[in-house]
Amino acid sequence: MDSIRVQGMAPLQGKVKIQGSKNAALPILAASLLIEGQVLLENVPKISDVYGMLHILEELGCHVRWERELLRVDSRRAKLGGISAELAKSMRSSIFLLGPMLSRFHEVTMEYPGGCVIGKRPIDLHLEALRRMGVQFVDENGQLRASVKALHPAALELPFPSVGATENVIMAAVKTEGVTLLRGAAREPEVQVLCEFLNSCGASILGIGTNFLRIEGVRHLRETRFRIPSDRIVAGTYLLAGFSCGGSMFLEEAPLRHMEAVCSVAQKMGATLTVSENGIYAQFPERAGELPLVRTNIYPGFPTDLQSVLLAVRCTGRGKTLVQENIFENRFRIIDELKKMGACFRMVNEREVEVTGVPKLLGASMEARELRGGAALVVAALGAKGESRISGRRFIDRGYENICRDLRELGARIVSE
Ligand code: UD1
Repeated sequence: MDSIRVQGMAPLQGKVKIQGSKNAALPILAASLLIEGQVLLENVPKISDVYGMLHILEELGCHVRWERELLRVDSRRAKLGGISAELAKSMRSSIFLLGPMLSRFHEVTMEYPGGCVIGKRPIDLHLEALRRMGVQFVDENGQLRASVKALHPAALELPFPSVGATENVIMAAVKTEGVTLLRGAAREPEVQVLCEFLNSCGASILGIGTNFLRIEGVRHLRETRFRIPSDRIVAGTYLLAGFSCGGSMFLEEAPLRHMEAVCSVAQKMGATLTVSENGIYAQFPERAGELPLVRTNIYPGFPTDLQSVLLAVRCTGRGKTLVQENIFENRFRIIDELKKMGACFRMVNEREVEVTGVPKLLGASMEARELRGGAALVVAALGAKGESRISGRRFIDRGYENICRDLRELGARIVSE
């Protein structure tokens, strides 16, 4: 049961509800360790990365319970413990536990975090910022050991606005006495959501949505009930999927406010978007129009997490497109898989690829090796002539609750097997 089978060329038509955001949920779950009480979370996506994080929280003594769509996390009994090597290695988001664990227990030992194979993904920015707050790191038999007597506030500046490093600093600082200043912070919506969550627990974070955060430590964080917003990357995936073979769709609860870059690209390619109170209605041309250049960038630029999906769509778009990846190296790994369908690429350099649209792709057997690349292969298969089979569904399940169900609701002929 690790494959997806797609019969291509069924125009998409229908409505799909967008799940809660993975990248908002994961740091908030880690942050629940900072609250010595219960947090009630609505709209947490049921994806394997979330299950992995919940597993770690349970290992640390938290009590976790789903009550239908509501997730209850109670960290009153949390205690210092080991973070299971296998889980930490398989999820980059295990790095989010550094800040909360240091704040609560003053020490933590963990494997170096893993996650999708998209580039080197070092953690130097996390470590350097936390070092400035008094943390000492040592390598202990290949594991990362961090300890601190007492965290102290600092005036920090990130040389690059790393999402994860920003989130770790925020989580380390919210209960640290004094004022921590963070310049060069990431402005991604998920960082804003983490701040809003913590402020709803009584934290004092100013500058939300800007690259300069002022965090004044508070003694306690109180219990809260919080709704995880919809996933802008999942919404963007389905929006771009509409170009695979035309049609129209309604993306219910798509977080439009945070999708400007992808909506603008969709419009350039010929989609007509109508915004309503609770979503986006999109109509697609039979073939995606010209798009000479797209560059990924930090928010509010075009998100790196949608680069592969866009690449898949451009395989059959009109004209040539230069795709420039500016956030992660090694995010063009799906090219070899897309070539199996007849796609036409020219690598310009490590960071740039030129794709020339062909009229039709042909169904093929392909292998997903990471989350967004896997989703991109599915999108390519939707528009291809004949049947495609994509193995490695487990990578896609890390971030999509049920991509087959969602796309079937839009009329696609797709099953998991
Ligand atoms: C988060 C998202 C991921 C998204 C990315 C960029 C989660 C769970 N994941 O990942 O989906 O693609 O933001 O929007 O929220 N870097 C360093 N040193 C560090 C940290 C990062 O060099 O210490 C580099 C990375 O290798 C990468 C770039 O900075 O090239 C961006 O990474 P970062 O913003 O930290 O992404 P993540 O938090 O890992």
